[in-house]
Amino acid sequence: MKKPVLIFPAGMPRALDYLQKCLQEERIVIGASSLGYDVSREKYPAWVQLPYVTDPGFNDALKQAVIEFDIGEIYTPNIVVWNHLSQTLGRLIPGVALANTSPVDEVLSGYRAALTKARHLMANQLSLTSDIPPRHPLSEIEVAALSRYADLIPGMCDDDKFRALFEIARYSVNGDIVEIGSWWGKSAFILAWLARCFEIGNLLCVDPWTNEHLIQNEKMVDSGSAQVDAEEALSVFQIGLLPFNSHHINYLRMTSVEAAKYYKDSRSVSTEAFGYTGYSGQISILHIDGNHAYDAAKADVESWEKFVIDGGWIIIDDYIWPYGDGPQKVGDEFLKSNRSRVSTAFVMGTALFIQL
Ligand SMILES: C[S@@+](CC[C@H](N)C(=O)[O-])C[C@H]1O[C@@H](n2cnc3c(N)ncnc32)[C@H](O)[C@@H]1O
Repeated sequence: MKKPVLIFPAGMPRALDYLQKCLQEERIVIGASSLGYDVSREKYPAWVQLPYVTDPGFNDALKQAVIEFDIGEIYTPNIVVWNHLSQTLGRLIPGVALANTSPVDEVLSGYRAALTKARHLMANQLSLTSDIPPRHPLSEIEVAALSRYADLIPGMCDDDKFRALFEIARYSVNGDIVEIGSWWGKSAFILAWLARCFEIGNLLCVDPWTNEHLIQNEKMVDSGSAQVDAEEALSVFQIGLLPFNSHHINYLRMTSVEAAKYYKDSRSVSTEAFGYTGYSGQISILHIDGNHAYDAAKADVESWEKFVIDGGWIIIDDYIWPYGDGPQKVGDEFLKSNRSRVSTAFVMGTALFIQL
C-alpha cells in the first residue's frame, strides 16, 4: 500500500483532478492550502493548513505535516511550489518524493504532441491528383492547432484520415459540407475548421442523437454504445463546436433520410445553440459516418449523393471496419455504378475518399 499523498495547493483544477484519481485508487489523501478559507477543503478527507511557500516558516510547517500524516509523496500543480520542492525536498525531508513532473511539462504536453504530430504529417504529405486547382497548403502551425483542438473532442478520427481530410479540402470545390453521423463532434470540428480556413462553405451535421439509432446489430459495437448517453453526446457536440462557430455550423437532429428531405426543400437551419446558418443546396464534401449496417449506409448514400456536385468529395467512413462490411459494400457499389462520375478514389486510414 502506497503511503499517503499531500496535495498542495489543493484547490487548483489539476489538484482536484489528481484528488479524484487518488480517491479512485483508494489512496489516503491530505489536502493543503495557504488560504485562510479554501472552498476545496470539504472535498478532501483530511486537511492541513500551510504557510505560503514564500513564508520563512513554510519548510518547517511542511516537515511537520509530513511527519504527522506519514506522507510519502507530494503532488503540486503550482510551478513555484514545484520548483521550490524539487530543489529542497531531498535535503529537507529525505524519502518524500514529488508525485508529478514539472507543471510546465504537464500543461504543455498536449501542445508539444500536436507540434510533433504536425511535423510528422507535413513530412509525409499526400500527393493527390485532381482537376481542381489546390488551395494553399496548411502550415505546420495550422495543422498543430487543428490537431490540438481535435484531440480535445472525443470521437473517432485516426491520423491517416485526419491527414487525408485536410488535403482533400484543399482540392475541393465550394459548397456545403454535410456530415452524416457527428456524435460528440470530432470529425465535425475538423470539417468546420477546414470549411472556414479554405472558405469552402457552411457545415451541416446530421445526427438523430438517440440511443436507438446507435444500434448497428453488431454485438460488440452495440454493447459499447449502450454505455453512452445520446442527450449528453449532443451537449458535448455543442460545447466542442460552439467556440469555433462563425455562423457556418449547424445541425439537424434527425436521421439522414429525414434530413435529406429537409435539405432538398430548405436553404437554412436554425438552432438555439448555433443560431441561423444558410446553405447553398450543393454539397462540396459529404462525410458519411452514420449507422454502418449495410441498409443504413446505403440509405445515407442514396439520400445524399445527388446533392454532391462535380469536384465534390464523398467520404465513406469505416470502409475498412473490423465489425462488418456495410460501408465497404456500399462504397464498392457506388464506385461500380458511378464510373463516369468518379474522378479519383482512394482508401486512406479506414475511409474511402471519392472525388466526383
Ligand atoms: C461512429 S458515430 C460518428 C462519429 C463521429 N463522426 C466522430 O468523428 O467521432 C455514428 C453516429 O451516427 C449516428 N447515426 C446513426 N444512425 C443515423 C442515421 N440514420 N442518420 C444520421 N446519423 C445516424 C449515431 O447517432 C452516431 O452519432
